[in-house]
Amino acid sequence: MGLLAFRHLDDILLSGVGMNIRDGELATPPVVFEARGLTKIYHMGEVDVHALRGIDLQLFEGELVVLLGASGSGKSTLLNILGGLDTATTGSVHYQDQVLTQATDHELTDYRRFQVGFVFQFYNLIPSLTARENVAVVTEIAKDPMQPAQALQIVGLEDRLDHFPAQLSGGEQQRVAIARAIAKNPDVLLCDEPTGALDSETGIVVLEAIERVNRELGTTTVVITHNADIASMADRVIYLADGLITEVLTNTHKKSPHELQW
Ligand SMILES: Nc1ncnc2c1ncn2[C@@H]1O[C@H](COP(=O)(O)OP(=O)(O)OP(=O)(O)O)[C@@H](O)[C@H]1O
Ligand SMILES: [Mg+2]
Repeated sequence: MGLLAFRHLDDILLSGVGMNIRDGELATPPVVFEARGLTKIYHMGEVDVHALRGIDLQLFEGELVVLLGASGSGKSTLLNILGGLDTATTGSVHYQDQVLTQATDHELTDYRRFQVGFVFQFYNLIPSLTARENVAVVTEIAKDPMQPAQALQIVGLEDRLDHFPAQLSGGEQQRVAIARAIAKNPDVLLCDEPTGALDSETGIVVLEAIERVNRELGTTTVVITHNADIASMADRVIYLADGLITEVLTNTHKKSPHELQW
């Protein structure tokens, strides 16, 4: 095995994702999501909008995936279907042994409540509740949650527990939103343009929080962005154009968020 191969292996191990090593072989981690022939058509009066035109996709346990594509390419639609917020027109999505595309509303509600953490561009915090209380809103209905203070500590906000959203910067508010998303110990963290409303310096702090959750908790993570520079922190980058996946790249060397620049 050459130096390059060792280095690659090291990167994989350090990345925390990865590939399990059995009998000296590299095995891919288990598949958590599998989408086949996924389409989504929105009927808008006389017009049909083909948001997804046939997506085949696998996501692996513990990986951090960045979804890149132009505005209107279908990124949010895909994420919302994976997260049980929207339903497909045709095709299938399996999440572990559950067929999301055949789930009842009740099953989808449970799936969203217990398995999925969402982070959106706008933080959607409740203005009249403190950081800790905003996180507690979710932990109170979860099965085996962390303490809100612990979730806030993971995102570096242990000193802001009793601040109201208006007393927090944009980046801090987004980190409260991440704490809220992870406090229920979700298997999956889905982030739709989490840095879209932030300057680059603040965006990097938010990405560090997401990367830490992925690395330390092993939460399978998908991050939508317009920003191609963010792709270098991913294990894999999935490119969408016009409702189709056009390319999937694997990063052999992931950058940590503080190495990113835009
Ligand atoms: N609820 C909806 N009703 C009707 N059309 C929709 C709806 N949601 C999305 N679309 C359309 O589907 C297409 C894909 O939208 P989507 O929001 O998935 O794109 P996106 O890649 O997330 O774009 P952006 O980067 O601007 O957020 C767009 O043409 C959009 O107008
Ligand atoms: Mg979008």
